[in-house]
Amino acid sequence: MLNRFSQRIESRRESARRSRIANLEGNCFVLTGATGALGAHLLIQICNLPSVEKVICLCRAKSLEEAEQRVEESLRKRKLGTEKSLADLEVSTNTKILCLASDLNKTDLGLNPKQGFLDEILNEATHIVHNAWPVNFSMGIAAFETSLNGLINLLNLCAFSYRQSPPTFTFCSSIASIAKIEPNSETNKIMERISNDPRHASHMGYGRSKWIAETLCEKASKRIKGLRCMIARIGQLACDTNAGVWNEKEAWPALLKTAQILGCLPDLRSKPLRWLPIDTAACLIVAATMTISDRNYSLKENIFKIVHVVNPHSTGWINVIEAMRQSRITFRIVPLETWVKMLANGKEQDPFVNPAIKLLSFYNSWTENTGKESEMDIRRLQDVLKERPDLMDRLRPISIVVLMKTIEAWRASGFFADQRD
Ligand SMILES: NC(=O)c1ccc[n+]([C@@H]2O[C@H](COP(=O)([O-])OP(=O)(O)OC[C@H]3O[C@@H](n4cnc5c(N)ncnc54)[C@H](OP(=O)(O)O)[C@@H]3O)[C@@H](O)[C@H]2O)c1
Repeated sequence: MLNRFSQRIESRRESARRSRIANLEGNCFVLTGATGALGAHLLIQICNLPSVEKVICLCRAKSLEEAEQRVEESLRKRKLGTEKSLADLEVSTNTKILCLASDLNKTDLGLNPKQGFLDEILNEATHIVHNAWPVNFSMGIAAFETSLNGLINLLNLCAFSYRQSPPTFTFCSSIASIAKIEPNSETNKIMERISNDPRHASHMGYGRSKWIAETLCEKASKRIKGLRCMIARIGQLACDTNAGVWNEKEAWPALLKTAQILGCLPDLRSKPLRWLPIDTAACLIVAATMTISDRNYSLKENIFKIVHVVNPHSTGWINVIEAMRQSRITFRIVPLETWVKMLANGKEQDPFVNPAIKLLSFYNSWTENTGKESEMDIRRLQDVLKERPDLMDRLRPISIVVLMKTIEAWRASGFFADQRD
């Protein structure tokens, strides 16, 4: 699969360069996945950069109107201060936001040629942040083909760019791409480096797809002259620190919900929960993207960097339990193996009511990993923090107060039942 996709990466077309229509002085970002959790936070962070004049969000939608509505809804759902409209965000940040209906699987990204949006991107895009990906731990690798296709089509935008130097390319990957790698023998850490062995990826299609995607980005950074590419290898994301909103479709929220369904939670005191607040992750990814911008490198230089976007500090399981208890949820703590058996054999097997059911094999895999989890090297992340010391303070364990906000948010949305003891 890797070979098939890598053959489709184009080299930089010198002939494609055209004299730029100088209608933008600042930066123009292309962002995918703004309808999702991290994408909504990335959009806010990108708009907040003073150098940004335009953000083009590529969304799955049938029309421009629907694309715009979906992004607005995404911000609203995450309480990102735009209860009114995208127009407010545009005014407050002085940034034009263009939401386009797109199909990343098509070589022209499904953009209507008559409307000229593809030309606009080729002409104006200075940065591409590719964040859209199915966060699905049940899908096999074959189901990720369309996503890999989308990645190639976006990388090829860099090759075809009309600009003097191609846009910088940021890919949102996951630590699942290297879940099985051995730590470096000298540092005893997992390094911010590309892996050359597909067996290093987690066994799920998701992790394998991210391994292939990282490798394709590395190949593109060699083939496309002047490409500056950054892989944000992201750890477990959690709630945001302001409103406590945490994507309910994910594995941890589903696990915590079982406190109300099974009346118990597993004992995970020995598992380091390196949960990273999602708003912090977005700040770090945007800051890391700016470090590969023109300012730091010659325009002809090819750059390929992996940055571990992880929280070096663990949130104690004990704090999670405390937040649940202080939110007046009653449950017992049982060994992980017992909890997995209870989940498998419990009365509630409807995945709509008990979403943890769908992730049974994922949780079960934790019972086999009895060894200590390896630490992640974060030297590149620390380099980013040197440029943005204001972000340093954000890398903390998640507090009980924030976790309690999350539980309230889940009650308000109906994800958690409002039964208090
Ligand atoms: N959540 C985590 O803990 C975590 C950890 C490590 C890495 N990441 C990475 O961070 C990124 C964002 O994750 P998230 O947590 O924000 O997930 P999310 O809330 O599920 O959002 C996923 C986004 O990707 C889009 N998308 C999914 N499949 C797509 C497809 N086939 N074609 C086009 N767009 C597609 C979705 O669009 P629709 O709205 O149209 O479905 C949505 O905008 C992903 O790349 C993920 O791998 C997340």
